[in-house]
Amino acid sequence: MQKLRVGDWILTHNLETMLGNNVEYHYRSSTGEALVVDGGFLVSGVNQQAQVVWAERTFSALSGQATAALTTMSEPSYLHLGGIRNVEVFRRHLQDLQIAIPCDVELIAGEASPLAQPVRSDAIHFGNRFAIQPMEGWDGTAYGRPTELTFRRWRRFGASGAKLIWGGEAVAVSHDGRANPNQLAINKHARIDLYKLREALVAEHQRSIGSVANLMVGLQLTHSGRYSHPNFKDRLEPRILYRHPILDKRLGIPDDYPLLSDGEIRKIVENFHTAAQVAYDSGFDFVDIKHCHGYLGHEFLSAHTRAGDYGGSFENRTRFLREVVAGVRAAAPSLIIGVRLSAFDTIPFKPDSPRSASGKPGPGVPEAFRALLPYRWGFGVDVANPVQADLTEPVQFLSLLGELGIQIVNLSAGSPYYNPHLQRPALYPPSDGYQPPEEPLLRVAQQMQMTHTLKQKFPHLITVGSAYTYLQDFLPYVAQAAVREGWVDCVGLGRMALAYPTLPIDVIRGQPMQRKRVCRTFSDCTTAPRAGLPSGCYPLDEH
Ligand SMILES: Cc1cc2nc3c(=O)[nH]c(=O)nc-3n(C[C@H](O)[C@H](O)[C@H](O)COP(=O)(O)O)c2cc1C
Ligand code: SF4
Repeated sequence: MQKLRVGDWILTHNLETMLGNNVEYHYRSSTGEALVVDGGFLVSGVNQQAQVVWAERTFSALSGQATAALTTMSEPSYLHLGGIRNVEVFRRHLQDLQIAIPCDVELIAGEASPLAQPVRSDAIHFGNRFAIQPMEGWDGTAYGRPTELTFRRWRRFGASGAKLIWGGEAVAVSHDGRANPNQLAINKHARIDLYKLREALVAEHQRSIGSVANLMVGLQLTHSGRYSHPNFKDRLEPRILYRHPILDKRLGIPDDYPLLSDGEIRKIVENFHTAAQVAYDSGFDFVDIKHCHGYLGHEFLSAHTRAGDYGGSFENRTRFLREVVAGVRAAAPSLIIGVRLSAFDTIPFKPDSPRSASGKPGPGVPEAFRALLPYRWGFGVDVANPVQADLTEPVQFLSLLGELGIQIVNLSAGSPYYNPHLQRPALYPPSDGYQPPEEPLLRVAQQMQMTHTLKQKFPHLITVGSAYTYLQDFLPYVAQAAVREGWVDCVGLGRMALAYPTLPIDVIRGQPMQRKRVCRTFSDCTTAPRAGLPSGCYPLDEH
């Protein structure tokens, strides 16, 4: 007799089928999630770690051979990639975990490198396959203007050698839509401030790389919606589209808290139009209409339960995007439009309390969701089992981008607020997070595989992939293989660009990786700002 609890980890030794008694049971394996039905479940691989995600009834028994083959593990342990020096060892590690992502054994330097190839398609040109991802700043003034720290970060992005700068950082289209009280915002100084920021980046690119040819710089436009903190870091001033049964409780949003009205939404749409015009006037090549990470654009996509023009049907849930695009096209016809999308989500996670100790949150487990099925508060999730992705609507969304003439998309997943392990896989959690619920490489692979699937369906859409930083020293090997094999057009760097901004140019020039600068996913760049400190990589940036 073997008892399991939600959150337990098991090892499945050479076992294909394990039988339980009257158990409806879900578990996550190292190759994805398996749905388990009454009376038994199927293990999709062998010799892998698996975690119980939820059990319908108390787990009662495993029979025969299965009982013997099952080992309960108290805490999973993960290989520290910083300790591996050899790419062959890393490839074996991927194989052992049955993680199917491409990884080259040798890097090609110079013009022949797949990562040095330009991307060209109609109006879009950029000179290599590295992008710097947007990273929100916590170092602007209270009025939303950049400071010297902001300029420094943008200059470092310019020195990276990446030829696609996806947004620099999220800029709020209005004061009330700021995610933190030091975030940049569109205000009366924005035209000149953004012009100077962009100029600083471009000048540094010229100085460090020698040419600004084929450099493409965009600005990410956002409204923080549910996560707005425009005035004080610890005072949430949410702007919500619908009542969320898990997040409202978590954020302390009362049942009678007002929803944004359709009229207020139209005003926000106009703010996006104005902001795009400002970006255009400041010299940006494109704007990103942000649809990721739990912010307002993303929340529209899951507004199934909202009444009125902006909720319910897919058409209504994408009305915001269509209206923003129409106004931007009218205001600045030659401005390119891109979208950053959380292409799938999962249930919000929390630290498992029985396994938490003071100062050390337990591993992440999903919030209870059984009573919420079919689940109507997510985008890109299976409504019958929302810890699993379902790309049906994301595919529809990318078709819509094509209809709107949008040729470039940046694919991400989840949210840093409620499932950071999915959005930015890490070995060490941020202060408000949880220990990794599973081998973090699984979530890197899941984002890469999602991007690959969507790229195959939309070969003409230019894709930027996310969540590569956890690969650490092996990022260039995986990036090169992913681009070479057409999994993605361009590899986006988030945290790695804070810790080691010149990685792209080092790789393209065939310089050895500077191991001391490689991001080890300590998460201080998230924890520190949440404690009121300025943005940055605390362990590795000497500043
Ligand atoms: C400090 C920090 C700030 C971020 N701010 C933004 C942002 O403003 N907009 C955005 O789309 N993503 C933001 N992200 C997410 C990153 O762009 C990226 O998707 C994520 O870190 C995963 O990529 P990585 O594994 O390369 O770090 C932020 C990430 C970090 C660490
Ligand atoms: S603080 Fe630095 S090392 Fe830590 S996750 Fe952020 S970028 Fe990486």
